[in-house]
Amino acid sequence: MINFDQNATTPVDEEVLEELVRATREFSGNSSSGHSLGNKAGKFLRECRERVAGILNAADPDEIVFTSGGTESDNAAVRGIAWAMKQEHSRDGVVTSAIEHRAVLAPCDWLKEQGFSSTVLPVDSDGLVDMNALRDALGPKTALVSIMLANNEIGTVQPIAEIAKMAHDVGAKVHTDAVQAAGKLPIDVQALDVDSISLSAHKFYGPKGVGVLYLRKGTPCHCFMLGGTHEGGRRAGTVPVPQIAALAKALEVSERKRIEHGAELKALRDQLVSELLAKIPGAHLNGKLEQCTPNTASVRFDGVYGGHLLRRMDEAGILASAGSACMWEITKPSHVLTALGLSDEQGGGTIRFSLGYSNTSEEVTQVCDTLAKLVTEMRSEPAVS
Ligand SMILES: Cc1ncc(COP(=O)(O)O)c(C=O)c1O
Repeated sequence: MINFDQNATTPVDEEVLEELVRATREFSGNSSSGHSLGNKAGKFLRECRERVAGILNAADPDEIVFTSGGTESDNAAVRGIAWAMKQEHSRDGVVTSAIEHRAVLAPCDWLKEQGFSSTVLPVDSDGLVDMNALRDALGPKTALVSIMLANNEIGTVQPIAEIAKMAHDVGAKVHTDAVQAAGKLPIDVQALDVDSISLSAHKFYGPKGVGVLYLRKGTPCHCFMLGGTHEGGRRAGTVPVPQIAALAKALEVSERKRIEHGAELKALRDQLVSELLAKIPGAHLNGKLEQCTPNTASVRFDGVYGGHLLRRMDEAGILASAGSACMWEITKPSHVLTALGLSDEQGGGTIRFSLGYSNTSEEVTQVCDTLAKLVTEMRSEPAVS
């Protein structure tokens, strides 16, 4: 199996798996319990928090809140910060972009139902946010700007520091969904100048079901997960220390991979695009590689329906994706491809290739040769009405 669908999820790294097993055995206590077993888990949890804070360059480990993953972190940040900004500062505007993950767009829709104004910024044909539209949308009532650092389908990387400066100038808070950036781009909360970040371990060689919400000290955030006072009162629920240990290890491992092998990953992705475009007439790149994460390429094939192509690729032992993984069963092009201005036909013929650190140059050539064969076959078949 050749896995070119690593934006959907990554395989758990062996070192991370070992850490998950070790921490499950060694830290069986409840980190909130006052007895020795609980204290042992609590002390280790603190250590994990410090390690994660160190990698993200957070000023204080208490700015790290552990969650169940990207969706929860996005919901907690978007709903929580906007809600608190309304209560504490009478601000009721949220600004986001048309290519965000549903985990951001749906909370923005929910805020709108609660009486907030919500502005969804357009993007250009490469997926970059329209900065003039952002400038126009910002004002004294803006509570929160939530723009993703890296897009999951195209890979487009947004100028978050610049966006954050514009938002901060009007007194708004800034959240960025960095779920697709971890392990591929440096994530430094000071350089990005954001108030909040979402991460998800299963996107950087960690297990599913655990994530990070970075919340800069002093950022107002209403807690929607009610219950106990875990995570400094910002996320109720018994803290899954072994999963967090695995997340901390995965962040270290993926950061090491990024530093040592990031250039190779980018070279593989670039090889994939140039071979696809050279071997398959009517193949086009969506977006611009130099504006994308080093592992992602969105390519469309004229006259081919992506859903059918994916099935044949799967039969040939190649995994990729049409829109985002969550959209596998939906036949119309994703909201991201539509926002880039692609027609239904162009969006329908699009395949997302997302590579990981274990992929090789031989795999890239095998994928391109197989695709050239499959696309030619499909184009020669009578159209199904
Ligand atoms: C950009 C982005 N945000 C959020 C999520 C949701 O993360 P999780 O699967 O951890 O809930 C994903 C997952 O595909 C994503 O790609």
